Amino acid sequence: MIDLSTTYLGLQLKNPLVASASPLSKDVETVRHLEAAGASAVVMYSLFEEQIEFEQASLHYYLTHGSDTHAEALSYFPPLDRYNVAPNAYIEHLARVKAAVKIPVIGSLNGVSAGGWTEYARKIQEAGADALELNLYTLPTDPDQTSAELETEYLELVRQVRAQVKIPIALKLSPFFTSLPNMARRFVEAGADGLVLFNRFYQPDFDLEHLTVVPHLTLSTSEDLRLPLRWIAILYGRVAADFALTSGVHSSIDVIKSMLAGAQVAMLTSELLAHGIDRIGDILMGIQHWMELNEYQSIEQMQGSMSQRSVGEPAAFERANYLKILNTLDHRLPYAW
Ligand SMILES: Cc1cc2nc3c(=O)[nH]c(=O)nc-3n(C[C@H](O)[C@H](O)[C@H](O)COP(=O)(O)O)c2cc1C
Repeated sequence: MIDLSTTYLGLQLKNPLVASASPLSKDVETVRHLEAAGASAVVMYSLFEEQIEFEQASLHYYLTHGSDTHAEALSYFPPLDRYNVAPNAYIEHLARVKAAVKIPVIGSLNGVSAGGWTEYARKIQEAGADALELNLYTLPTDPDQTSAELETEYLELVRQVRAQVKIPIALKLSPFFTSLPNMARRFVEAGADGLVLFNRFYQPDFDLEHLTVVPHLTLSTSEDLRLPLRWIAILYGRVAADFALTSGVHSSIDVIKSMLAGAQVAMLTSELLAHGIDRIGDILMGIQHWMELNEYQSIEQMQGSMSQRSVGEPAAFERANYLKILNTLDHRLPYAW
């Protein structure tokens, strides 16, 4: 009997397929469908720092100035699209989702600066979340701000959130750190139990007809898997955290690779948005089939067995491999430069 179970952030999961933060968690029935299809846990879509600050500032402004000047308060904030609802409605929705399913529900906060808004971590815990994902989705653009300053701020944020809650915390990170291994370790020291690698950045495009910068959302492909795969393989055994792989998980093979690299869970969004929630069942069957063929009894047996520490050629993950690839390519390219 093949054992597909895994643990993540201290949670016992029946298999490693987790639905990552996405609009799929906006509807209670859809979350029920995710559970029925076989997802072992679900991460809620995010509540954003800006939304909380917006609500808090406009309430303060309303109380001190009266409702007629409210518009002025609103203008301090970047336009908040309609992706998410007001903070308290988010908390109420989370509680409804939690009551509707048996699988663990992970709340999600998205922000970058320490501050009063982090009290929502506690509200997420009180609503019944089994864990909290904190998404550090940021794009520094100020040349006067050093990476050390930013890192100090991120660490302070993690410490603040840690102080708010007892439930496990996973940090969803970008790959853009000068030393990811060092930052990963410091995040864990600051209180993170897990690391979710990586945020997938949505790159704006240029509309040449109107000369405007337009948002551009493309779903991932399995090609996107290789960045988080490599980093989890490198960090596994070096940083005392549970790893979740997000970006590019589309098939059973992608999940198996994630496990071999050292992930505790593989997270999906694009595949479910593009091909439907029932893909989870196909992927689970594919994993089981592969494990039977390759004589693995459990997911645990696979986890980390192709991490950098375990493979015969650790340099395959590093700079040396780049030189090797360039050398082999030189002989194969059909044209002269
Ligand atoms: C439409 C859409 C909405 C998303 N919303 C969130 C969100 O609210 N919070 C978050 O942390 N990630 C969000 N994500 C990112 C996903 O959770 C996931 O990390 C990313 O899509 C990469 O995984 P994938 O290759 O399986 O799509 C969103 C992604 C998509 C496509």
